[in-house]
Amino acid sequence: MTDVSPPDRTLDTPLYLQLYQRFQEAIRTGRLKPGDRVPAIRNLASELNLARGTVETAYQLLISEGYLEPRGPAGTVVSPRLDAANILIHHSRSTTVPSAQASQETRPGSTILPFQLGLPALDAFPHALWRRLTTRRLRELRADDLNYPDPLGYRPLREHLSAYLGISRGIHCAPEQLFITAGYKGALSMICHCLMEHDDQVWFEDPGYHLARRQLEHAGARLIPVPVDEHGLDVDHGQHCAPQARFAVVTPSHQSPLGNALSLPRRLELLNWAARAESWIIEDDYDSEYHYEGHPLPALKSLDQQQRVLYIGSFSKVLFPGLRLGYLVVPESLVETFQLACHTTFGGSPWLSQAIVSDLMHEGHFSRHLKKMRSLYAQRRAVTAEALRECFGERLEIKLKAGGMHLLAELPLATDDAAIAARVQAGGLAVQPLSHWCIDAQCSPGLLLGFTNVASREEAGQLARKLATLV
Ligand SMILES: Cc1ncc(COP(=O)(O)O)c(C=O)c1O
Repeated sequence: MTDVSPPDRTLDTPLYLQLYQRFQEAIRTGRLKPGDRVPAIRNLASELNLARGTVETAYQLLISEGYLEPRGPAGTVVSPRLDAANILIHHSRSTTVPSAQASQETRPGSTILPFQLGLPALDAFPHALWRRLTTRRLRELRADDLNYPDPLGYRPLREHLSAYLGISRGIHCAPEQLFITAGYKGALSMICHCLMEHDDQVWFEDPGYHLARRQLEHAGARLIPVPVDEHGLDVDHGQHCAPQARFAVVTPSHQSPLGNALSLPRRLELLNWAARAESWIIEDDYDSEYHYEGHPLPALKSLDQQQRVLYIGSFSKVLFPGLRLGYLVVPESLVETFQLACHTTFGGSPWLSQAIVSDLMHEGHFSRHLKKMRSLYAQRRAVTAEALRECFGERLEIKLKAGGMHLLAELPLATDDAAIAARVQAGGLAVQPLSHWCIDAQCSPGLLLGFTNVASREEAGQLARKLATLV
């Protein structure tokens, strides 16, 4: 048996995560050795006075990360495949990392790097729930489910999304206006396919999401960089430079990457421009669910009286990016065009993952998960910012924005943020230089740091100290 003590209910860290960390620690320090059997879920739950689901979630996480191995009726054991080297590397998330070297490592073959941008907290994903919903769907599999999926998207998911968007984002759209896509990128490529012609002018936020920039350029768009300030996109500037642009691509909830919201006067100005110029606004609402201060503004699309906005949402941040699911809401006038494209070219998304997400939404798990993540991220954001401030003092300025999944750390003026970021990346931390997101904009130098996977105050401290040695 282990000497696992009951998790502390007064801490903010979820019980399952505390349990997970205790097992990880026991394995790392050799108290639990490869091949050792761990207690049955039922027994441990009763011993520690926890719900079975809590223990099960911790075990699932340990199994998915290779610490434990289920052996059916023979119980669950510490993975015999864990050798000493593996254990050192695997415990990089532990709260008591013994050497700086170990904390630099990620799991072998892992693509998750410290401070990586744009990833949700993958350690807090509800694995057990996901597995349960998947198993249920597979158990009930019918021949029909094996047929080609609906090219427009799984109808129940489109219905749940239409209800969700009405309540949480103020967007009133019929399921017919909603298309399930391969994430944001899939939605953007659908728009390019249906509406964009070679050399079309596109207002693009500067700085702005560089992957969208590349995608649009690749599709033949002529980007018109439009500066961004504390009120979001400078609409006057766009109207001055390219009044007849065919598109404007914007991130109104949390401008990517600066984090400001597009102000109401600018929203109205942008919508008026699009109506006058008969242009399309592409609203990228990639992470509006994560808002920590005040009330999030409704989506720009909710104000779209003239039907000029194409709205894109993604499950990459609210569930996980490997899912490759997102959605696109189009004005009624474009429904037929997009339906045709789905039937002829895009062909729809895999049925099973759509059905699981649909169940998550239908059964209320989705909103519970978002609520949990919102408070987890608020906590992780605070400890990361605090650790950076403690470590760097005046050398870095962190200005917290109302939402988002990353921090912007401003460097002293005239610093070469690209050179610094390259050095830091070579040291194993996945920060990004702000300059990399700029086209013409002369932003103050800065580093972008994802905080969502910083699992504890200790880890934040280790990462900040490591960053300080590299900057
Ligand atoms: C600004 C922005 N939009 C959209 C996305 C989501 O893209 P996808 O749904 O293709 O994963 C991201 C992901 O990092 C992003 O940063």
